[in-house]
Order: sequence, then C-alpha cells, then structure tokens
Amino acid sequence: MTGKIGERKKSRGFLLFILMIALGVVAFAVVLTYTKKFVYGTGIVSKKYGDALKIAMQFFDVQKSGKLENNKIIWRGDSALNDGNEEGVDLSKGMYDAGDHMKFGFPMAFTATVLSWAILEYGDQMEVVDQLQPAKESLKWITDYLVNAHPTSNELYIQVGDPVKDHKCWDRPEDMTEKRPIKKVNPSAPGSDVAAETAAAMASASLVFKSSNLKYSKLLLSHAEDLFSFANENRGSYSESIPEVEDYYNSTGFGDELLWAASWLYYASKDRKYLEFVTGEDGEKFANWETPTWFSWDDKLPGTHVLLSRLSFFGPEVVAETENMDMYRKSAEAVMCSLLPDSSSATSSRTKGGLIWVSKWHSLQQPVASAFLAVLFSDYMISSDTSKLECNSDSFLPSDLRMFAMSQADYVLGDNPMKMSYLVGYGNKYPQYVHHRGASIPANVKTGCKDGYKWLESKEPNPNVATGALVGGPSKADNYIDSRNNSMQGEPSTYNTAVLVGLLSGLVSVSSVPKSFK
Ligand SMILES: *[C@@H]1O[C@H](CO)[C@@H](O)[C@H](O)[C@H]1NC(C)=O
Ligand SMILES: *[C@@H]1O[C@H](CO)[C@@H](O)[C@H](O)[C@H]1NC(C)=O
Repeated sequence: MTGKIGERKKSRGFLLFILMIALGVVAFAVVLTYTKKFVYGTGIVSKKYGDALKIAMQFFDVQKSGKLENNKIIWRGDSALNDGNEEGVDLSKGMYDAGDHMKFGFPMAFTATVLSWAILEYGDQMEVVDQLQPAKESLKWITDYLVNAHPTSNELYIQVGDPVKDHKCWDRPEDMTEKRPIKKVNPSAPGSDVAAETAAAMASASLVFKSSNLKYSKLLLSHAEDLFSFANENRGSYSESIPEVEDYYNSTGFGDELLWAASWLYYASKDRKYLEFVTGEDGEKFANWETPTWFSWDDKLPGTHVLLSRLSFFGPEVVAETENMDMYRKSAEAVMCSLLPDSSSATSSRTKGGLIWVSKWHSLQQPVASAFLAVLFSDYMISSDTSKLECNSDSFLPSDLRMFAMSQADYVLGDNPMKMSYLVGYGNKYPQYVHHRGASIPANVKTGCKDGYKWLESKEPNPNVATGALVGGPSKADNYIDSRNNSMQGEPSTYNTAVLVGLLSGLVSVSSVPKSFK
C-alpha cells in the first residue's frame, strides 16, 4: 500500500514536474511570439512577413520584359524583344507597368529607387529569407533598361508603347503585335521629374551594387549625375512636354524629384554640392517642410524627408548641423505624427478597418508606402537611441510606429473585414480575377490584340496566378469586388509591389539601419 501511495506520490510529483516544464515551454513560446512583435534587436525572424516577402518579390519576375534569364514563372516567356529598335536603342528589358504592356519610365524608375532603398536598409533581412539576390536581380533588370534609355547626356527615353493602342488590346506580352513607339525627353521637350527620378534610381542602385559590381556601380553613378544636371538645367515637367502621359502618370511637379535625386546623389557620391542643393534655395523652394503629404510615384517629398532625416540621426555632425538639415527631420516627424492613429495630428483618412485610405484608385498604395516610411523611421529612432517622437503634446515610442506599420501590413495580408489577403498567392483567400492580361490568358493559347478579350470577359478565375501582385485595394467601406474588369480595385502595379517589398523587408526582423549606407 504505502509503496503504492509512495509511487502515486512520486508519479504525482513527476506529473507536476512535467506540467511545470510544459507550462514553462508554453510561457516561453508566448513570450517569444510577443517579443517577436514588440522587442527589437532580438534577431528573431517573423515567418509571416518572411513568407509574404518571398511571395511579393515574385511579382517582379511576372512583370519582366525582354529575353528572360532563369525565368521562374512558368506562364511567362520572352517578349518585347524589339522595343527601341526603331531608334537604335535596346529597350527590351525593364518591367511592364501593371496589368497591361506599357513601359512607363516615371513609375518604373520609382520602382527601382524604392527597391534600392529597401535593399540598402534591409538587405540583411532579405538575405535571411534568401531574397537579397532576387531583389538585386530584379533591380538590375530595371537599371539595365534605364542605362540604355539614356544614350546621350541630354536625352532620356521615358516610355515604350502607345497607351491608347495598348489599352485597346487584351493579349499576352509574348504574343503582342501592336506597334511599340518610344517617347523621349530632351532640352527642347524637358522632363525634370522623370529625368530626376531616373537619376534617383541610378544613384541609389549604384550604392546597392557598390560592393558586388563596382564597375556597374560607377556606370550608374555617372548616368545619375548626368541626368540630374539635365533635369536641373532644363527645368520643366514631362507632362507638359509630352501631354499624352497626363492621363496615365501625370506629374504634378518636378521640385520633389529634384530634391529626391539630389539626396540619393549625395549618399552615392558624397559630393557636397548635392547637400547644398537640398538645404539651400532649392530646398527652401521645393521641400514643403512640415506639411505631410502621401509618398507615391508622383510625390517624393515624404520619402525625401525621411531619407534626409537619416543625416540628422546618424551624422556626420558637420552634415547634421548644416542649416535647414533639421527641417527634413522635423518634416519626417510631421509625416509620422499624421500616420499614428492616436496622435492629435492623425490623418482622418482611414477606413473603419484601420487602413489608411486616400484614393479609390489603387487604394493600397498610400497605406503601404506610408507604412514603409514608418518602419524606416522607427528603425532610425531605435538605431540612434532616440526614445521618443513628440507629436504636439503627446509622445510616442518607436514601437508605436512599428505597430502602425504592422497594422497596415496585417490588413494587406488578411486581417481585414473581407478576411482576405490582397497579396496574390498569400494565404488561402486572395483575389482570383486580378486585372492582368498575362495572368488571365492560358499560356498555351495564341491570341491577337482583339480576340483575347474573351479572356477578360470569361467568368472563370485567372488560369495563371500573378504571384506577388498587390491588387489596387479595398473601397473606403473596406469592400473588395473580385472582378477582372474592376481595374480600379483589381489591377496590380510594379511600383506598389516595390513599396510592399520595402515594408515587408523592414518587418522580417530588426536591422541595424545605420550600417546600410556604408
Ligand atoms: C496634371 O498635373 C498638373 C499639375 O498639377 C495639373 O495642372 C493638371 O491638371 C494635371 N492633369 C490631369 C489630367 O490630371
Ligand atoms: C469593363 O469596364 C469598362 C469600363 O467600365 C466597360 O466599358 C466594359 O464594358 C466592361 N467590360 C465588361 C466585359 O464588363
């Protein structure tokens, strides 16, 4: 008996011991999950954001034009091989803009600049989930195109394809038969916006390739410097020189691109003349300090404010103390204060579901781009031991900014009233009728310009998954209509995938950002 009782006691004690270990393990797991979200410098990798990043990155492969190398998208093939031939330039590479087959230089260059920025700040985190190499390859696919698009100092090709004719076709890029006219800016038809954005793309990419391909990096920097001079000395908007772009990618001004390009050129060249540009007369004229706007393919100011706030955070001191430099940091802070939902200057442009919502066309662009800036700024704060952000009388922590960024990313990935992911290929419910020609037509059928329309009109889901496409997004009421003809909500774009890649890279883990611009 006693023996049994003793045994029972012993086994009870043992059970208790096991139970305590189990509880300990559970508690540890909970803490781990929690810290993964809220504590920095742990180096813990978020599986969710890592998986989403791997998916988002694939959209660049979906959008590639030209003779493909190591193509991983089974339904894609070579296309647009003769682009540029009519004027003796090779514009076959680059990426299609969205669901169509236009190559618009203004948003394409912005895609490259944002992708470079993401690589520079968060390349280490991309590497952890094996996305650094694909990111650099996609970036180079665009910069190779941009190099060829800039054959002489004062001449830049800014578009391939006729948008009116292109939009009257529904075909696969591999089977395109429509003419592909090209357009350029030069001193008699200036385009400071598109030329400066292209300079920004090349300057930032020159930093990305500095350690792996010095020759290419130098080539990009020299193109960037030339393009900046061309943009600056021949001031004018490309939308005025080439009015047909107004209906597609209208530029509402070029001052923001000049500052954005000069900022990137300062980082890439360390030439003080660019610093003087952004802090001098042109900065005062164009920077629109402390007036938050929305970062986008058209408006580079919030991006410039955040990018230059780096210099205030990390120096060197003589640079941080340049007159007006602190205005960029103050402006970046004003942007952050407008994004934080609990700040007294919070923007009211939000849905009930918590998404920043500014425009019904491609509604995800502003929340995702803003969240990318917020995660950057939060990492600048952490890396510089800046504990607080003051917004009028309230103060916020870097973790508040990071939580805001996560809230926007989580909304995109399925934490939303529709309970669906807006990133195609992620999760188990995502749009099936993405407005994308290549995805909507089976790879083994031949279509011409017009007979492909039956695939636009088909009631069947897309036969090909446009993996990584970030669709336009929900309505103000957090609704989404999954219809192939709904280009307002259902059309993806390469530039919106670029900002998403930036955001997700920042959320994969925590980076020591100041190292990134060496
Ligand atoms: C393009 O932008 C300019 C400058 O802001 C504006 O005046 C013009 O109305 C815009 N065009 C279109 C079609 O929106
Ligand atoms: C698609 O939308 C356009 C513009 O709203 C409309 O003109 C066209 O008839 C629609 N096509 C189909 C198949 O619904």
